[in-house]
Amino acid sequence: MDKLRIIGGARLEGRIPIGGAKNSALPAMAASLLTEEELLLKNIPFVNDIYTTRRLLRELGVEVDFDAGQAVRLRAARLRSYEAPYDLVKTMRASVLVLGPLLARVKKARVSLPGGCAIGARPIDLHIKGLQKLGAEVRTEHAYVEAAAEKLRGAQIIFDKITVTGTENLMMAAVLAEGRTILENAAREPEVVDLAELLTAMGASIEGAGTPTIVIDGVSALHGASHAVIPDRVEAGTFLIAGAITGGNIELTACNTAHLTSVIEKLREAGAAIDTDQGRLRVKGGDALVSADVVTKEYPGFATDMQAQYMALMTQAAGIAVITEDIFENRFMHASELMRMGANIRIDGSRALVAGKTRLSGANVIASDLRASASLVLAGLAADGATIVDRIYHLDRGYEKIEEKLRSVGAQIERLK
Ligand code: EPZ
Repeated sequence: MDKLRIIGGARLEGRIPIGGAKNSALPAMAASLLTEEELLLKNIPFVNDIYTTRRLLRELGVEVDFDAGQAVRLRAARLRSYEAPYDLVKTMRASVLVLGPLLARVKKARVSLPGGCAIGARPIDLHIKGLQKLGAEVRTEHAYVEAAAEKLRGAQIIFDKITVTGTENLMMAAVLAEGRTILENAAREPEVVDLAELLTAMGASIEGAGTPTIVIDGVSALHGASHAVIPDRVEAGTFLIAGAITGGNIELTACNTAHLTSVIEKLREAGAAIDTDQGRLRVKGGDALVSADVVTKEYPGFATDMQAQYMALMTQAAGIAVITEDIFENRFMHASELMRMGANIRIDGSRALVAGKTRLSGANVIASDLRASASLVLAGLAADGATIVDRIYHLDRGYEKIEEKLRSVGAQIERLK
């Protein structure tokens, strides 16, 4: 199992290009199931979740070819299976994104129920309820969701809770349903808007993506398209914090600054200087980082996917920061590892109280999920001595070449095989 070894203390300086958004690329690849024609997706990050999706789609009968230059071609001319098996879903819960499109295309789907994971229980009841509203019969047996529908019919679906992949799954089911579907209390994340743009390029009729109400008028068939997925806002946010936590000066290119507004504002409040300029961001960390409270929220609020990284930053800020995790019930696994490095953190239910500034000292730490891994890497950059981050397969699921990107701006970081 690979590990990362980081020698902290280097001030990071230079330029990092941001890749495509993993969480946009995953539903975009699943959307290939909706048409017999070819989809060309560009700006795909070559991370492990994308390879897992390739495996899943190939099992379903989709031809998937990676091109040079971060592109992937997908063609689902004929499907040979409608099942997402347990061994793939347990590796990557975003595999549930094939449920909606399979049901729309072949009228049936069998998808292993994802279990809980390191950040919470993460049920998919809202995906299922929505599909039932569209007329699907859904039953759960042997830990598989089995869905079938002679015909999907448009309906009004009011989500009890905002769900990103739930909104995406329902959108992909509704594009080929008969009549109008109205999704209320839909997720407004940029990744949802990106998927709506892709589906529209494929011939779907979708209005309102990016607002709480999405209206979809079903069409009889979709066609091929070419689409570039949006830049990864979480990768960009992680590198912003890398600049801030090392007192560095980093420029990020190929980002969408509008998607990062809440993160930028929070980092400025904490004392980092950030300039934005059409797809570029520059962060300068000062010596005087100060604590700033944060509550994770659905977009456009502060993303839960940035909470762990922000906690690492707050260990280096003067004062007490209250970090409230409002989306997932168990997303503080990184805190105990940060504490082993010297951080002063108290967890109280969904709140973490981080008292800074504390000296961090390098240690052997274990990553529990993707963003927790990123948090430990950031802490390692600020710590004295060597930090070894174990179980970085989590990191490899969502960050492409993170150690190369960090090394290119002066970090002392290497992968131990
Ligand atoms: C997406 O997960 C992202 N994954 C996650 O990114 C991200 O943390 C999350 O949205 C929140 O922004 C992808 O896009 C592939 P949700 P998703 O459904 O869609 C509850 C990362 O690090 N809920 O929006 O699975 C759920 O338990 C990952 O890149 C239900 O109760 O998250 C949670 O508390 C991790 N029933 C809340 O809603 C449901 O049927 C929001 O979850 C669905 C969700």
